[in-house]
Amino acid sequence: MQRQAAVWRNAAQRVVLVPTMGALHEGHRSLIRVARRKARVDGIVVVSIYVNPLQFNDSRDLKIYPRSLSADKQLCREESVDAVFAPISLYEKDASVVLVENDLTTCLEGKCRPGHFAGVMTVVAKLFNLVCPDFSVFGEKDFQQATVIKRMVRDLDFPVSILLGPTKREEDGLAISSRNLLLTGPQRRQGAVLSKAIEFSRQSLGSRAVDLKRKLKRLIEKEPDVRVDYIEFVDTLNLKPVKVARKGNRVLLAARVGSVRLIDNGLL
Ligand code: PAF
Repeated sequence: MQRQAAVWRNAAQRVVLVPTMGALHEGHRSLIRVARRKARVDGIVVVSIYVNPLQFNDSRDLKIYPRSLSADKQLCREESVDAVFAPISLYEKDASVVLVENDLTTCLEGKCRPGHFAGVMTVVAKLFNLVCPDFSVFGEKDFQQATVIKRMVRDLDFPVSILLGPTKREEDGLAISSRNLLLTGPQRRQGAVLSKAIEFSRQSLGSRAVDLKRKLKRLIEKEPDVRVDYIEFVDTLNLKPVKVARKGNRVLLAARVGSVRLIDNGLL
């Protein structure tokens, strides 16, 4: 991969990377389109596909994570992706170095999934070192992840610019995610309550976060199979909790629908 990246670099071709764990869907397709626009017609769009064991704090979750390499390659062909980088393994057996971030990762997903962001940052750093992209595209759906990656790039001087692609949603508002494939029909319908909660928050600007969180939890848990992990109103730049939900803040939430964990977020 590094040799190929050097060929592109010597030809002064702009390289744009979309890192994924596969099971590609319409959300990924829209990120690939962001990448293509940035790469322009003569640039290179690379999609990496690698289910990164280091970011799964739950081994069952890793085991059941959907995998569909040939369908993924087909979607990449449809989008005229120039290269798919799908390594079988990225780690030495005795790998002993991981990246740690000590601020943005101490809350929300970082708190619920210990070690998750160390795994994400480590694999993304490796992908940046292998593909040497000028730009890399991440989904706004994983807002905390995107914020952490931007901080990593800033603090470690990676020569790459991070672009965000908007969250794609089903007609009923459910954020498109590879994990949706694991939901049963009724669970899939109940999952849409997360986006309803975001909408409710947008209509409640000026409310105290603590009151709004209580109301949202009640709204979400009216669905029989949905249980809230967290709901937080934060400052968009530093993910610090805010006391009052105001325009420009963001609501981030996570819930279990049956045994499937879904996350979503929205700008207020
Ligand atoms: O968002 C994902 O799919 C993964 O966390 C990423 C960024 C590809 C790293 O494995």
